[in-house]
This record gives sequence, C-alpha cells and structure tokens, in this order.
Amino acid sequence: MTILGIETSCDETAAAIIEGHGNNLWVKSSSIASSLAMHIPTGGIIPEQAAREQVKFVLPVIQETVQKADTALENIDAIAVTYGPGLIGSLLVGVETAKTISYILNKPIIPINHMVGHIYATFIGQSTIKFPLIALVVSGGHSDLLFIKKHGDFQLLGGTRDDAAGECFDKCARLLGYNYPGGPKISQLAQKGNPKAFAFPRPMIGNHDYEFSFSGLKTAFLNTTSKYFPILRKDMPDSKVGWQQVILENKLSKKEEQIVYDLSASLQQAIVDVLTRKTIRAAQQYNVKSILLCGGVAANQTLRDKFSFEIRNLKLEIGLFAPPVQLCTDNAAMIASAAYFNFNPEPWNDITADPELYF
Ligand code: KG4
Ligand code: ZN
Repeated sequence: MTILGIETSCDETAAAIIEGHGNNLWVKSSSIASSLAMHIPTGGIIPEQAAREQVKFVLPVIQETVQKADTALENIDAIAVTYGPGLIGSLLVGVETAKTISYILNKPIIPINHMVGHIYATFIGQSTIKFPLIALVVSGGHSDLLFIKKHGDFQLLGGTRDDAAGECFDKCARLLGYNYPGGPKISQLAQKGNPKAFAFPRPMIGNHDYEFSFSGLKTAFLNTTSKYFPILRKDMPDSKVGWQQVILENKLSKKEEQIVYDLSASLQQAIVDVLTRKTIRAAQQYNVKSILLCGGVAANQTLRDKFSFEIRNLKLEIGLFAPPVQLCTDNAAMIASAAYFNFNPEPWNDITADPELYF
C-alpha cells in the first residue's frame, strides 16, 4: 500500500509517499519547504505569513514528492493529513488540500494527530518494535509520556505543566542570542562544555507522577547566565541585545566562551536527566518491551546516549528505538506512517482542522 502524507501544522509544508507491506514500511520520497528564514527577523513565527507561504508551497511540494517517488497521484492508495494540533491557518492549508485530492480522485483520507505522527516516525524502516511500549514525545510544544498497548491504543501518563523540553532549549538559546531552533545550537555548544559545571535544577525528577515542568529550569539558566554576564540583567534594558550581539559576533574572551559551553552542557544535562529518569521509571512500572524516543528533541545525541546507558546499566530487557534524525523533526512521512498502522479513513466532509487537538 502507498500513502501520501501531508503535514502543514507549523511553518513547514511537507509531503511524502511511503510504501508498506505488513510490518515493513519505508519512505519512497519526502519533500519539505520551510518558511522559517522569513520569521527570523521578528524572532517568532507569524502565523498568517506562515499560512500564506504554505498556500504557495503546498501543491509544488506534493508535485515534487510524487515525481521523486516516480509515480502519479492516481496510483496512491490513500491520503493522510495532519488535522491538529498546530496553527489554524497552517493546518487548514494541508487539510483542505488533502480533502480536495481525496474528493477529486476518490481516495480514502485519514486524519492524523501530529503528535501521533511523531510516535509513528519511529516505525519507519523499523519492524522489530514490540508492544506494550512507552513513548516519550518531546518537541517544541510538547513533552508527553504515553503508555501504548497496541497500535492506536494510547494512554497519556503525563505531560508538561508549562514549557516543553524543546521550548526550554529554544528559550535558553534565545537568551544567548541564537534563533529557533535552539536545541541543535545548545547541543553543539555543549560538546565543548562540562555538564557538571552548573548545578541546574532537575524539575519534578523525584515526583511519583509523569508530569514535567521546565520553566523553572529556564529561569535558573537566566539567573546563572546573568550572574556571569551582568550585561544581561533586567536593570540594563537595552544591553540584552548588546550581550547577544557579543556572542554572535564572536567577541567573547576564551574564558567567556567556555562559560557559554558549560552553561549549554549543564542545561542539556538537566533536561536529559529529567526525561530519562521519568521515562525509565514509567517503563519499569508498566513493564514494557520497548521505549520510543520521538519528536524534535529526540534528535539529541546526549539524550539517546543517556537512555542506552541507563537501560544497559539497569540491565533492563527493553528495546530502545528512535527515528533517524531527519525524521525526528516535522515531516510528512511520519503522518503517512501513522495512517498506515491506524488505517481509519473518514468521509472527507467530516474532517476539520483542530488546532487544540491533544491525545
Ligand atoms: O517536532 P519538532 O520538529 O516540532 C514541533 O512539533 O514542535 O520539534 C522542534 C523542537 C525544537 O524545540 C528544537 O529546538 C528541538 O525540537 N530540537 C532539538 C534538537 N533538534 C531539534 N532539541 C535538542 N537537541 C537537538 N539536537
Ligand atoms: Zn512536531
């Protein structure tokens, strides 16, 4: 079976074609256009601008992916589309395009939750995942832990009470002057840093629930950063820009540079420790066979290494799975994969975008 996936929940416009037989699923083609560069000057995504770009991109991106797969839309068996959560204008572009294709070509259409898509990125090219499993979904907007008994049977164990893990990376990177996405930048700086240099809090690590909270960690990062670099202090309003400019223009002394590396490594370690401890505790409590690391933050190598280390260290018989890095962040192959394993088509006229959708 071949499925065309369409994903337009945030700034990306993505389309992909996957092919599946039994438990085996692979990507035939994948195309992504992003309007991120446009949003850099304002420091955040402007929803209307993102949606207008997606209107421009959506058909060329679908056309490109169909051509790359060396096929024609008529040969596709079904269409999968993200219907939430996300930005309403952006979601509408993908949903209405998918509905139109479904109507004109009389193809089944499967609406997919973006977060479920992140989980199913793990199943692409990976046929040995065993149920039951725990999925940690960590992206820019979510940090969720789920217990999954079988395909489609999701039980949310806990989520973030405030900032998500990715958001914490992004906001702390921003404090240092770096644009979205901050996670890859922090992890690059962290390579030269000492993760024990600063004792940042591990919020809620000892709680016996599966909730997360990262806003306190962000505040601790701000306080420590402003202690070492007083120019960041709130009582010097305009100098914040000045400090960030200093970093961006590489005008730091060697000692200051090392502080930035150490701050990054210590921040990353605090986030990784919380995510690892809570997920492994859930995996033990629910007696699962697999742990899946999903979402943009799952691209983080320190996070992956820490999980492997802990599973070995505790001698757990649990398989660890994470998608290849390019499938961790937003893409359309994951949406098609979710539809393949949860093949529940709906009449096109019943499908509407739902920006607030959750598990
Ligand atoms: O899943 P995703 O592409 O978009 C959302 O659905 O939010 O996730 C984006 C998030 C951003 O917060 C970004 O900073 C983070 O994933 N991210 C990383 C890494 N690569 C992306 N965080 C830590 N380390 C990385 N290597
Ligand atoms: Zn995402």
